[in-house]
Amino acid sequence: MDLPAAIVENTEMPNPDDRNLWTSSEHALDYLHKADTIPHRTEGEAALLEFVPRDAGRILDVGSGDGRLLMLVRADRPRTEFVALDFSPAMLEALHRRFDCDARVTVVPHDFSNPLPPLGHFDAVISSFAIHHVRHERKRSLYAEIFGLLSPGGVFCNLEHVSSPTDQLHRQFLRSMGLRPEEEDPSNKLLDLEQQLTWLREIGYAEVDCHWKWRELALLAGVKRDSRNLRGE
Ligand SMILES: C[S@@+](CC[C@H](N)C(=O)[O-])C[C@H]1O[C@@H](n2cnc3c(N)ncnc32)[C@H](O)[C@@H]1O
Repeated sequence: MDLPAAIVENTEMPNPDDRNLWTSSEHALDYLHKADTIPHRTEGEAALLEFVPRDAGRILDVGSGDGRLLMLVRADRPRTEFVALDFSPAMLEALHRRFDCDARVTVVPHDFSNPLPPLGHFDAVISSFAIHHVRHERKRSLYAEIFGLLSPGGVFCNLEHVSSPTDQLHRQFLRSMGLRPEEEDPSNKLLDLEQQLTWLREIGYAEVDCHWKWRELALLAGVKRDSRNLRGE
């Protein structure tokens, strides 16, 4: 007998691939305590800043955490409006503490494993160390949704945790982060850099490249070409 779709959904077992610990306050606060100790992250953030236009009117930060990256980008973009999106109650609380008095920043609670809510268009979409927490197929569809949100000429900059090409390199990465294998975040769904760059190109992003990389940390970026500007600049 065919069951109605809603009942079929309810009988599904939770998929371990969907594990995401980021709604736990303990997990979020533990990250915030260690965020400054991630090796080379400031280099990756500095590289990202280079690709975000100074005159951007609107910028979306996907998986904002406590607003660390947003603060960096905001510092020398005094007229830009920002949307910070996250789903962790602890991170949302930190975002509200930081930005409630700032009329240029809107905080949007949302689980980006689901389609993004209507947010309008953006001159840049930024993200750091967030999108690798959703399944691969959702990474791709999220990249496509972000492409749809970009204004012509807009840029997507994703400072991301990608997979290592070999187990040995992965173990070396964990060691360089001061982590034992059992301490690795079970929410991670790491995917190789090349696959993600290929997706960005297939979706229609132009000027796609990895502009910075240290071990498993990489800056992926692409532009939504402005068809009114054939030189794409
Ligand atoms: C490693 S932290 C990075 C935070 C911030 N971007 C930074 O660089 O410090 C990952 C962030 O992604 C958020 N996140 C993970 N999965 C998410 C999801 N499905 N929807 C919304 N936010 C998510 C977490 O709550 C957390 O704030």
